[in-house]
Amino acid sequence: MNRKEKILIMGACGQIGTELTAALQLTYGVNNVIASDIKHSDKLPEGTLFETLDAMDVKQLLTIIKKHSVNQVYLLAALLSATAEKNPEFAWKLNMESLFNVLNLGKEKIIQKIYWPSSIAVFGPTTPRVNTPQFTIMEPSTVYGISKQAGERWCEYYFNKFNVDVRSLRYPGLISWKSEPGGGTTDYAIHIFHEAIKTKRYNCFLEENTTLPMMYMDDAIKATTQLMDAPFESVRIRSSYNLSAISFSPKEIFEEIKKHIPDFSISYLPDFRQKIAESWPATIDDNCARNDWDWNHSYKLTDIVDEMLKMLSNDLKKLF
Ligand code: SER
Repeated sequence: MNRKEKILIMGACGQIGTELTAALQLTYGVNNVIASDIKHSDKLPEGTLFETLDAMDVKQLLTIIKKHSVNQVYLLAALLSATAEKNPEFAWKLNMESLFNVLNLGKEKIIQKIYWPSSIAVFGPTTPRVNTPQFTIMEPSTVYGISKQAGERWCEYYFNKFNVDVRSLRYPGLISWKSEPGGGTTDYAIHIFHEAIKTKRYNCFLEENTTLPMMYMDDAIKATTQLMDAPFESVRIRSSYNLSAISFSPKEIFEEIKKHIPDFSISYLPDFRQKIAESWPATIDDNCARNDWDWNHSYKLTDIVDEMLKMLSNDLKKLF
């Protein structure tokens, strides 16, 4: 592993960023990881090097890159599916401009490696929903999905045209307890744990049988670092890799939580996010990731429920 890496994380205070910052600090050392975001969060590990950065401000970005001699960038700043529907123009601007800023730094050879997340949102209502293949019909119907699909095309273009070493994963819904989810359609799978512990009641914004692909954050971090550590030649897909762990519906996760909290109850009141969820795959075929760089997930639904309930209950005890 190259210990001379200097890494900048953009959008470091979000759901993925806070955990990825900690993971990269462990591997590369606290002084080689610079967290940045539009504003600081106390969720970042203590002692983290932090820079305030608007991901759309290319001048500010370049100043930070030069100041710290950064050679690798993880661009996590984005508006997610539900939030983007409320502010489409800004979502498009933020999601695309930030990507171009970073890809162009790769083109100019100012940075050597880029990570940029895509999502299951690149798929749409005309995509086969079961075992969705890596290469298939992609007609996303959300602003977020459109921006991720366009972004994937640009990543592949910059790789082919300018030899930019950009790597990407199509994350499913990510479940974590350390920080809040960021305005996505899959956020219910985190809210449900908080409400199960606090009030023993949950009103779900998706219908009970809406199955979506999901993953525990530890697996997502593992996949991300594995992809970034993989040899250049092994990363054969330069748009974005399908990535999968488990799939479940609100009813299935509710039943699993109920095994631990018998008087937990749920009601369903679907809102605009139901339509988004219905346009996405139920299960994903991620054989390319498994073959190209040995991806394998560790957490099953039962493991996730055990750990989420344990960690969130501990967190709550600390508060009172
Ligand atoms: N979790 C994301 C969302 O719901 C999908 O990438 O928007």
